[in-house]
Amino acid sequence: MQVKAPRGTYDILPQDSVKWQYIEKIMRDSAESFGFREIRTPLFEHSELFQRGVGQGTDIVSKEMYSFNDRSRRSLTLRPEGTAPCARALIEHGIYSGVMPVKWYYLGPMFRYDRPQTGRYRQFHQFGVEAFGSNSPYLDAEIIILLVEILRRLGLDDYELHLNSLGCSVCRDDYRQKLLQHISPFKEQLCQDCQQRYMQNPLRVLDCKMETCHQAIRGYPIFYDHLCPYCQEHYSRVQAALQANGVSYIHDNNLVRGLDYYSNTAFEIHLPGIGAQSAVGGGGRYDGLVKELGGPDIPGIGFALGMERLLLALDMLGKREFSKPSLDVFVVVMNDAYEMQGLQLVSELRRRGIRADKDYGGRSGKAQMKYAGKTAARFVVMVGEEEVEKHFWTLRDMQSKEQRQLGQEELIDSIRSVIETK
Ligand code: HAM
Repeated sequence: MQVKAPRGTYDILPQDSVKWQYIEKIMRDSAESFGFREIRTPLFEHSELFQRGVGQGTDIVSKEMYSFNDRSRRSLTLRPEGTAPCARALIEHGIYSGVMPVKWYYLGPMFRYDRPQTGRYRQFHQFGVEAFGSNSPYLDAEIIILLVEILRRLGLDDYELHLNSLGCSVCRDDYRQKLLQHISPFKEQLCQDCQQRYMQNPLRVLDCKMETCHQAIRGYPIFYDHLCPYCQEHYSRVQAALQANGVSYIHDNNLVRGLDYYSNTAFEIHLPGIGAQSAVGGGGRYDGLVKELGGPDIPGIGFALGMERLLLALDMLGKREFSKPSLDVFVVVMNDAYEMQGLQLVSELRRRGIRADKDYGGRSGKAQMKYAGKTAARFVVMVGEEEVEKHFWTLRDMQSKEQRQLGQEELIDSIRSVIETK
């Protein structure tokens, strides 16, 4: 039986990897221009990290984790997200005792046992940033400005930014009680999931996709009206800073996010033109997470962007054409007897920074010329009897079809003068 890639995973083939490299570069350059530095954490962690960090009552922990026991019977989990691993690394390496805020970014695969569909996979990729050690509302604004800047650089300006405040531990506890009291009489009308989770976290019901749940709890108390003065002030400053920087947003009372660590500012960014999975990114403050994981009381804020969804958006809405990566030179060896000279030439071209290749399929000279055309190489260099005996190479410009006979250094200079101006 043929072995295929597991459901919800896929291969990134070379014709697509150019797009990945393009968005990865924009993300890295943007984050670095905002003072973030890259962190790489392991692909698997102790399961407890996510149980404590992301929260037992969340869909991610209760239904979607790829957890397994290793040979020493430790429970490990393929990371479903990157925030808890960053907080773990901050504590483990005592980084919090240095200069704050610490600003990190990461990029890589995450794993969730989700129901696969367009824009939703079991192995997917996130680009994320995390900033630890400051509770300034202007840092919240900076994080959101970075998110928006990345979309702008990708040419995806037509976004909707949803913003809410989830309060601090004090006002959230009060609000939860009020919400619980409101929901309790209608609990029978909630969907199965909400009936299970509303006791643990009634805010989750606000986030439910089922219209019947929203109908059942209509008239529910709004968190915004119950924020404590500190949280109100924090949220107003974030909004003022976004307005001052020309970032438009929608205040969204129903935005609660699917992970338990959030407090205060929470946000999601949608690209409405890309279908059902329109949330390309999300994030917020998580001021209690580092303490929850056994570290000091250090605040944090960040976001993650889903790379597959951005690629989908670039395909559907993007303005950029991606050209196939091509060679600078294809070396055509006209006669088997000169294979060694052909290989030496190709090696020298590569050493001198020229992207070069040759045939290894035993093709005739004519077939190699045809093959060179398929590789879309800018130049062909021919290696035949006359060339070897008289110490020159024949350079063919595949665009102008012009052919010249040149010594090796002249050849390299001519090729470089064209490819360096590309
Ligand atoms: P999240 O909202 O769970 O947040 O994920 C962020 C983004 O990852 C989503 O908006 C979506 O684009 C993408 N994503 C999530 N699940 C999938 C999937 N199964 N397939 C494809 N894309 C997916 C977090 O993960 C938080 N750690 C973000 C954060 C960082 N908050 C603070 N700092």
